[in-house]
Amino acid sequence: MAVLLSHCGWAPSALWSRSPQRRRTVARRIGRITGRSPSCRSRPADVAREASILLLAVPDDALAGMAVELAAACPRMSGRVVLHLSGVAGLTPLLPLRERGASTGSLHPLAVLSSRLPQPDLLRGAGFAVDGQPRARSMARRLARDLGGRPFSIDARRRPLYHLAASLVANDVLAIFHLAHQALCKAGLAEREAHQILVHLLQGTATALAQTPAEKALTGPVSRGDAGTLARHLSAAPDARTASAHRLLSLVLVDMARAGDRLGEATARRLRRLLAPSAGVGKDGG
Ligand SMILES: NC(=O)c1ccc[n+]([C@@H]2O[C@H](COP(=O)([O-])OP(=O)(O)OC[C@H]3O[C@@H](n4cnc5c(N)ncnc54)[C@H](OP(=O)(O)O)[C@@H]3O)[C@@H](O)[C@H]2O)c1
Repeated sequence: MAVLLSHCGWAPSALWSRSPQRRRTVARRIGRITGRSPSCRSRPADVAREASILLLAVPDDALAGMAVELAAACPRMSGRVVLHLSGVAGLTPLLPLRERGASTGSLHPLAVLSSRLPQPDLLRGAGFAVDGQPRARSMARRLARDLGGRPFSIDARRRPLYHLAASLVANDVLAIFHLAHQALCKAGLAEREAHQILVHLLQGTATALAQTPAEKALTGPVSRGDAGTLARHLSAAPDARTASAHRLLSLVLVDMARAGDRLGEATARRLRRLLAPSAGVGKDGG
């Protein structure tokens, strides 16, 4: 985030992370973008004292402890904005900073931030869940827009539901990819080749989804009502976990195909019987 913000005119003036080497590396990267490296601080409170906007980019479970530490070290925080990047946390973990006068909020990019050197336009078009007290919220919206994103609000009570959706697409898809990769390697492909072929396939699914709702983008045996093909998948599954995942996800696909009027009720019922966990097709009893 520090690198991406530096590309759009919001380069941090100071950085902290527990690893001195990591903060120096990030500072150098920012220096290469803006011509001026931010200062590296050895304590988070040193950043908090000099920053007018503070971004807490730490794991969700570390947020509350960090807020307590900062509040203890910085008794006066009025005029400051503090934002966390968590999708699931509300504003409660930042309460100690609010009590010190800070305006608190959150800015959650719906994006995969895994690269240490992200492309400058990585967040162009990304959704950003923003929340907070008026000042913090307005700053979060501004940062989201400057990053090229689309800010929106989520009711605080529904954040876990919102984050579940984000995790299903950003993370759980990788578990499905992993199972597919294992099956393809078992079918005889080399690991690298299997990876590339599956990435291409996944990109095809994403392209179709960008043009049409999921029910209409659906292809494959469920959309055709091909019970025989599904039975062969389940028998061929290399382990019970893969068979279970395929059963469960295909049952969702049956409902989607029904909703999109792709399957008649009789065929859907036949597929549901075949896919039911108790149906017993598959290795290891899966
Ligand atoms: N990654 C994504 O795609 C993504 C997308 C949207 C939002 N977010 C949000 O961004 C925040 C950070 O996520 P992340 O994926 O960047 O996590 P992460 O890589 O696990 O953690 C970020 C940094 O926090 C520091 N850290 C780890 N444990 C800590 C602790 N106990 N106390 C203080 N610092 C700690 C680590 O740096 P040091 O070891 O150098 O201290 C680490 O590099 C989360 O709130 C997450 O929900 C992430």
